[in-house]
Amino acid sequence: AICTPGEAGEMDILTSTQNPTFTQRNAAKVLGIAEHLITAHVKRVGGGFGGKETRSIPISCSAAVPAQILKRPVRLVLERPVDMSNHGTRHPFMGRYKMGFTMDGKIVAYDVELFANGGHSLDLSIAILHRALFHVDNAYWVPNIRCRGTVCRTNRPSNTAFRGFGGPQGMIVIESAMARMADILKLEPADLRLANMYTEGQKTHYLKAVEHCNLQRCWNELLETSSYKQRKAAIAQFNQDNKWKKRGISCIPVKFGLSFTHAPLNQAGSLIHVYEDGTVIVNQGACEIGQGVFTKMAQIAAQALGIPLSLVRVAETNTDKVANTSATAASVQADINGMAVLDACKQIRKRLDDFIARKPEEYAKLSWHELIHHAYFNRVDLTAHGFFEAEYGYDWKNHAGKVFAYYTYGAACSEVEVDILTGEHRIVRSDIVMDVGKSLNPALDVGQVEGAFVQGYGWATTEEILVFNGYGTLYTRGPGTYKIPGPGNVPADFRVRLLKDAEHPFAVHSSKGVGEPPFFLGTSVFFAIKEAVKSARADNGVNGYFQMTLPASVDRIRLACGDSFTAPIHNEPGCFIDEYPTLDTHDN
Ligand code: MTE
Ligand code: HPA
Ligand code: MOS
Repeated sequence: AICTPGEAGEMDILTSTQNPTFTQRNAAKVLGIAEHLITAHVKRVGGGFGGKETRSIPISCSAAVPAQILKRPVRLVLERPVDMSNHGTRHPFMGRYKMGFTMDGKIVAYDVELFANGGHSLDLSIAILHRALFHVDNAYWVPNIRCRGTVCRTNRPSNTAFRGFGGPQGMIVIESAMARMADILKLEPADLRLANMYTEGQKTHYLKAVEHCNLQRCWNELLETSSYKQRKAAIAQFNQDNKWKKRGISCIPVKFGLSFTHAPLNQAGSLIHVYEDGTVIVNQGACEIGQGVFTKMAQIAAQALGIPLSLVRVAETNTDKVANTSATAASVQADINGMAVLDACKQIRKRLDDFIARKPEEYAKLSWHELIHHAYFNRVDLTAHGFFEAEYGYDWKNHAGKVFAYYTYGAACSEVEVDILTGEHRIVRSDIVMDVGKSLNPALDVGQVEGAFVQGYGWATTEEILVFNGYGTLYTRGPGTYKIPGPGNVPADFRVRLLKDAEHPFAVHSSKGVGEPPFFLGTSVFFAIKEAVKSARADNGVNGYFQMTLPASVDRIRLACGDSFTAPIHNEPGCFIDEYPTLDTHDN
């Protein structure tokens, strides 16, 4: 952040955040001044991913205080290890569950309790826990659900938002249960998942009907285009022929709720100016964090005004142009700011149409540039403020209210090859089918799907949660020790499809939020790894269910293979792998 004091107590804050309004509001608190004295602005961010929804605030505030005292600009940039030691991560969760199901694989009841490691302060932990609770069902209709959650206060850095915002943590528990159920019943996991998958109109545990439900369409298209069943048979053969290399394949669905779960955040504003030369500036509330929202905003404005994209510029996000913005989060920025942009453009378009109606024979023939020029000379207001509000949000007291505007659906199939001697793996191929409605920009949306998948893959495999020593020193505070996926980890064969004919009435131009939903699909790799490990275990005479804690890191994979090398370690206290006794199964 760079904080520059101005005259009469003003403070200008240029910062790398997903949340300019929160930056402004908190700076006002620490400086003891009014919000109207502070302008926070964001040109673009080189990646936020939830980490800059709130955790940028301590940095901008820490720069603002000395800037105010010294009456000089102050710039504060953290080095990577300091940043990683202080600012927390996604919330590690633990889930405990019981699931009741019939012998033919229909879920009857699901009882789940979630514990989130919040760190030393609350930050966004409650909202993250809420989203986790809203996603414990993932893609499955369960007639009876009980879910409870607790945020645990710990002596760790305060944990925070990360792509998916608790949703993945809620969903992974039921996916583990599904995989376990398939093991117990000896049923094909893909069939079992389909048999329990939501269909049109069924209600979730928070009583929202699932509408325009394309889950099963995604699933069936995925199974077909990935040749899942044929490849699974080929993999079985491969595993018979190889002792030290094992392959596995798995398909995982996702259903992700779009809207902020906190109702007041479901609003957005815009401020649009048309200049005398016909060019347009769009101010709106979303920050460009790499997801391409500025491009989408420019497209929406250009289309609504009926002009080429080249005439539209989206300005930096700025609290004195658009006030009281929500964080650039929850994957709904194109939805809500897009509606606000549309609202403002429609007002300007209407004024222009009314102006044309004054002298249609003359004005209707004008080019855009000429029209604007004439409109200006005739004192037509060429600026408009747009606004959008949505009614969504949950009433926790009465357990009522619409939580989400709609869902984004998807499914992924991943095949992996595991080196049984080392515990390393590589992705052989991943297929994804994603329902993003009628895409505003397929190039951006496919990029979001690919990026989210790879990031989710990192969460599910290489990204061990922070490792501290006994004195609280963080070991994993740089790319050398904290292993995020790199270009070499991207599936060698990566096929992303956007579902066709998926229009729906719930968001701007029939599009859907895409930023976070595909993240969870990275767990298809985790479950594929488990399948490969299962085959190694079977070779070693170990059968039945085994627990593997996320992420499936090299050490966990190696230890799970159930051979004579690792057997002594399994009896050590603190070992990663817990062998669970086989569950009792009851007829129906
Ligand atoms: N894509 C890029 N390139 N960089 C990011 O920081 N953040 C993700 C997602 N995609 C992110 C990204 C997260 S966590 C969210 S909530 C959404 O973008 C927010 O933007 P949107 O609402 O415009 O999708
Ligand atoms: N998603 C992301 N950020 C949020 C949310 C949410 O649902 N609620 C509050 N901040
Ligand atoms: Mo995204 S975790 O909602 O910033």
